[in-house]
Amino acid sequence: MSEVQRARSDAGRVSLSGLFGLPNDDPRKTVAIAVLLCLVCSLIVSAAAVGLRPQQQRNEAQALKREILKVAGLFDEGMDVDAAFAGLDARLVDLASGEYVDGVDVASYDVRKASTDPDASVTLDGDTDVARIRSRAKRMPVYLLRGHGELERIILPVHGYGLWSTMYGLLALAPDGRTVVDVSFYDQRETAGLGGEVANPHWLSGWSGKQVADDSGEPRFRVAKGSVDPAAPNAGYQVDGLSGATLTSNGVTNLVRFWVGPNGYGPYLERIRTGREN
Ligand SMILES: Cc1cc2nc3c(=O)[nH]c(=O)nc-3n(C[C@H](O)[C@H](O)[C@H](O)COP(=O)(O)O)c2cc1C
Repeated sequence: MSEVQRARSDAGRVSLSGLFGLPNDDPRKTVAIAVLLCLVCSLIVSAAAVGLRPQQQRNEAQALKREILKVAGLFDEGMDVDAAFAGLDARLVDLASGEYVDGVDVASYDVRKASTDPDASVTLDGDTDVARIRSRAKRMPVYLLRGHGELERIILPVHGYGLWSTMYGLLALAPDGRTVVDVSFYDQRETAGLGGEVANPHWLSGWSGKQVADDSGEPRFRVAKGSVDPAAPNAGYQVDGLSGATLTSNGVTNLVRFWVGPNGYGPYLERIRTGREN
């Protein structure tokens, strides 16, 4: 490098402390300050995201408990959610056999994590993946409401793909294992006013008393296209369609059929129906 080139190169190089001594209109100072600001901000955002994650998880768990209490018919505003939730019998079910799995803490069982863990899940494809979820956990929680020792409601967590998103819901069934008592979709990202109406309490109230399967356990539930004709032979298995949202409606049909069918809670519900719960 010649003397002239070295002199030019040295003129362009400024130490970090020297950068701040540069005049405010020097583009090198502007760029340096912008980079520094970005670094500091990204550090703050990352630290907040990591630091607040446990709190976020606690809030999500509390919100899910509230949703479960709602479909159990036990929720009251201002109630002690943990105390009320403790009144439910939370069990883990091995979906293949339909039997309860003992010795596992249901409260710390993470369904979403298990669904993608190759050891804790089964892969679904083609005809088996009607809910379009690709895999499902081998074990799923169920929440049982008992009154004087008698089973009153069975609450099943369910999920499946709509048009834009995976819709997470809770299906509360009567002790016959097929009559809907209540339902909710508490986490979904369908279009507000169209598919998002899946979370509308008015629409969901139309599910009460409908049956998700026939008496042999065959899934029969369907979200109709348009209104259900009460005189139609299958009206007892159908709820009104969501207008302008046939694709989300079909997603709901498919996810209910999947979860009450043989690859979902079917074997468990069969045990309930035949009085072999335990
Ligand atoms: C911006 C936009 C958002 C939409 N969101 C939904 C949706 O969330 N769920 C859905 O089923 N259809 C949605 N649709 C409509 C679908 O593309 C499709 O037309 C509709 O499901 C057909 O239902 P219909 O036969 O009841 O009209 C949306 C359409 C547009 C243009």
